[in-house]
Order: sequence, then structure tokens, then C-alpha cells
Amino acid sequence: MGYAVEVRNLWFRYMLSEEWVLRDLNLAVEEGEFIVIMGPSGCGKSTLLYILSGIIPNMIRGEVRGEVKILGRDIRGLKPEEITRSVGFVFQNPDSQLIMPTVLEEVVMGLENLGLDRGEILSRAREILSYVGLDRKSNMPPRSLSAGEKQLLAIASVLALRPRILILDEPTSMLDHVGTMKVLSLIESLKKNLGITVIVVEHRIEWAVEIADKIAIMDRGTVVAYGEPSKIFSDPELIKKTGVRPPMISEVFYELINRGVKVNRIPITTKEGVEELRRLLGRSSKPGALT
Ligand SMILES: Nc1ncnc2c1ncn2[C@@H]1O[C@H](COP(=O)(O)OP(=O)(O)OP(=O)(O)O)[C@@H](O)[C@H]1O
Ligand SMILES: [Mg+2]
Repeated sequence: MGYAVEVRNLWFRYMLSEEWVLRDLNLAVEEGEFIVIMGPSGCGKSTLLYILSGIIPNMIRGEVRGEVKILGRDIRGLKPEEITRSVGFVFQNPDSQLIMPTVLEEVVMGLENLGLDRGEILSRAREILSYVGLDRKSNMPPRSLSAGEKQLLAIASVLALRPRILILDEPTSMLDHVGTMKVLSLIESLKKNLGITVIVVEHRIEWAVEIADKIAIMDRGTVVAYGEPSKIFSDPELIKKTGVRPPMISEVFYELINRGVKVNRIPITTKEGVEELRRLLGRSSKPGALT
């Protein structure tokens, strides 16, 4: 399979700003991969997503240098509507995306631009609303939904267009616990059921290591670490430098290593941690074996 996204030596600064917000950034995402992007506030995560989805330069202006390819094609050669057809974008705040009087119309609106006939539009809209669990709320106004449901609707409206790449910018940061769980499990189901490429900025590290094929850590406008979660978190020094909080279980093992315990691998999930602890404890039955 080819690349969904290829970014080479990307630099970006906003119009009227001296400062380069993205600096020599490189990232290659294969089709079908699930990527979680993390990094401190202001490091350029949203800016990168805006470039990948064409929001920059079509809606927000600035100076772009370097190369960005979407599904093998240079993004500069793509019309805004061509980008929208391939790349779906979900904002942090669902209210900024929902404008129609009913839930059903919200999904229908996006589909109307695809030139489909009315029957196809309605059947696609109903299908996607049932997929995200909002079919019984089709005739309700979006503003009457909970924050979590609004985000599910925003995702549904984008998914209805059947993008090959779905980009989500902190989709759960405005949600309560229940809303967050609903949205995260929907995103997980996309990986399992639809096989589309997903790129999401999300800070919930325990979730990210379970679901991501790769994690990209950004710092000061560039990607400083990229790879499988187990690889990323096996380097405590690097993780410390980036300021990203590692999974709690990995932190426990960094501490054990500090204290001279010989571990086989640094676990990233609780399950792996339990296995590794059993192995370590199994070596000696003496109390205090880990100190
Ligand atoms: N429209 C704009 N014009 C000028 N500078 C901007 C604009 N939008 C963002 N910036 C600046 O670009 C930098 C990167 O911002 P960006 O929103 O991409 O960071 P982020 O990693 O998404 O942060 P957060 O985690 O807080 O969402 C910041 O210094 C920000 O102040
Ligand atoms: Mg952001």
C-alpha cells in the first residue's frame, strides 16, 4: 500500500508572523494506519493538521515551504474540493461544525455537494447516523444533543463523505467522561471496521498506546519521535525531553530501571506490565526482590 500522507521538510509561518511555526517537519503515514499526534501546547499540532486538510492555505493564509503529498499527489496541485473528498476534518469544538436545523440535515448537507441523487443521499445519511448511534435523534436539532453526541454527529457528517483519511484535532477535549468514551470507541471502530487512515491529536496516552499503529511526538514545530508506541516509550530520556507524559506503567518501569532492576522490555499497557512484573517476581521469591 502507498502513503496516505507524506510530508517532507515542511516549514510554515502564519501570515503577518515572523516566527516559523513548523520547522523542517517530516512525517510519512501509510494508508490504513492509525496515527496519534502528541506534544505540548503551541508546538504546532493543529497547524500541521490544517495543512494536511487544506484549511491552510485555503482558509488560513501563510507561507508554506517543503512538500506535502496526499495519497501520492502534491497537495498544491489539488483543488479544495478534491482535498475535502479525500481528507475529512473534525474540529475540537463540534459547535463550530454544526449549523443545520436537524441532525439528519447536518449529514445530508455535506452529501449534497457530491452530486448524488436524493435517495442515495438519504440512505447514506441514515446508514452513518445508525453507525454512530444517532439514528433515533435524526429529527432533533443538533443543539439539543449532549456535547459527546454533537461530536459523534460532527464525525458522522464527515464520514458520510467516505474520506480515505480522517483527521481529528483533540476531538474529546471539550467532552465529559461519558462523551469521551463514546467518541473514542467510535474512533476505534473506524480502525477495525472501515480501514481508513486516521490521524488524531489526542492526549489520552493510555488510550493512544492501545490503539495507535504509530505515535508522533511533536515539539517546537517538528516531529521529534515517530514510531510504534512500544518503540517510542522504550526511550525514557527522549520522552523526558519531549515533556509528553508516558503511560503510567512505563513510568513505573523507568523507575525500576533507575534502581538497577534488569527488565526485558518497558511495558506500555497494564497487561504487558503485569506480565513483566510476574516474570521479575518469579525470578526470586524473596521479599524486596525488586529493590
Ligand atoms: N492564526 C494564527 N496566526 C498566527 N499565529 C498562530 C495562529 N494560529 C496559531 N498560531 C501560533 O502557532 C503556534 C502553534 O499553534 P498550534 O495551534 O498549531 O499549536 P498546538 O500544538 O495545536 O497547540 P494546542 O495543544 O494548544 O492546541 C502557536 O505559537 C500559536 O500561537
Ligand atoms: Mg491545537
